[in-house]
Amino acid sequence: MACPRCAIAGTAGSFRETMRASALGHVAMEARRPVWVWMAAAFCAALALAIGAMAVALIALHELRIGLGLEVTARFAFLLFWPAYVGGALTSLFGDAFLPLKTNARELGLCFAAAIAVHLGLVATLCLAGHPPPLMTFVIFGTAAGCTYLLALLSVRRVREALPTNIWPPIRFVAMNYILYAFILDFSRFQTYRLIDVIKYLPFLALAICAPMLRLAAWAKTALRMPSKVGLPRRTPYRDEWRGRVSGLQSGRGGGGSRAERPRLGRLWRSQRRFGGR
Ligand code: HEM
Repeated sequence: MACPRCAIAGTAGSFRETMRASALGHVAMEARRPVWVWMAAAFCAALALAIGAMAVALIALHELRIGLGLEVTARFAFLLFWPAYVGGALTSLFGDAFLPLKTNARELGLCFAAAIAVHLGLVATLCLAGHPPPLMTFVIFGTAAGCTYLLALLSVRRVREALPTNIWPPIRFVAMNYILYAFILDFSRFQTYRLIDVIKYLPFLALAICAPMLRLAAWAKTALRMPSKVGLPRRTPYRDEWRGRVSGLQSGRGGGGSRAERPRLGRLWRSQRRFGGR
């Protein structure tokens, strides 16, 4: 017996299993569908923005400006990349209000990959029209595009599982930061301080520069609260000294300190509390 919709084959005797497998298959498809829907939506939105911008330029200036399409698609893609990059940091710094960004980081990243495909399509159009970008653009931004699709590939769990364990976090770290670097490089190419250029570049450059700072701040916060979570030793000299003093006091061996030493002990106590000790 075969399911007419998903062609999951079975035998006549295992009809129930077949229907169950078919239902599970459809459930799995339902669960998977949104990411493809969002990617298609991001692709279409980037395409519509590029066509719209180029059409306006064509009507107003009577020339086809593919460069404008590139600028628009790059900015749109950046607005998808940015929350994927900082979602986790914003959550650990400012709380669960940003949790949706953190939990949907993969979807946002895949939408970014879909949107940047339109950008790459425009680059191909530029090359076909006989105006290829300089070689260095291919080297620097081609690498960023490679990083984008490497991350997209590795976002598939089965592909990731085929790799040695622990290799995914460093790859993700390097690739995400290289893509961010490519954005910073391009957004810092301010040509003039005319209002239009300031609007076109400054907010995007500011967001791009803020992104690694937010991550660093989130890392520092975690390092202070839970050192072991970021690979730092849990014990601190203050904490060990404090422990020694307290156990000395408890066992009557002394070590509680004289009256003159009490302010120092107080400082130790406060610092060990800051490091999350008991
Ligand atoms: C993930 C990969 C990429 C990122 C993050 C990226 C980023 C950007 C950004 C931010 C802009 C806007 C620059 C501006 O407004 O002045 C831009 C434009 C442009 N990009 Fe990309 N790009 C990528 C891939 C590529 C590739 C692979 C090429 C070609 C080899 C390319 C060629 C161009 C060109 C020619 C422009 C127009 C520059 C201008 O008109 O001044 N990009 N890109």
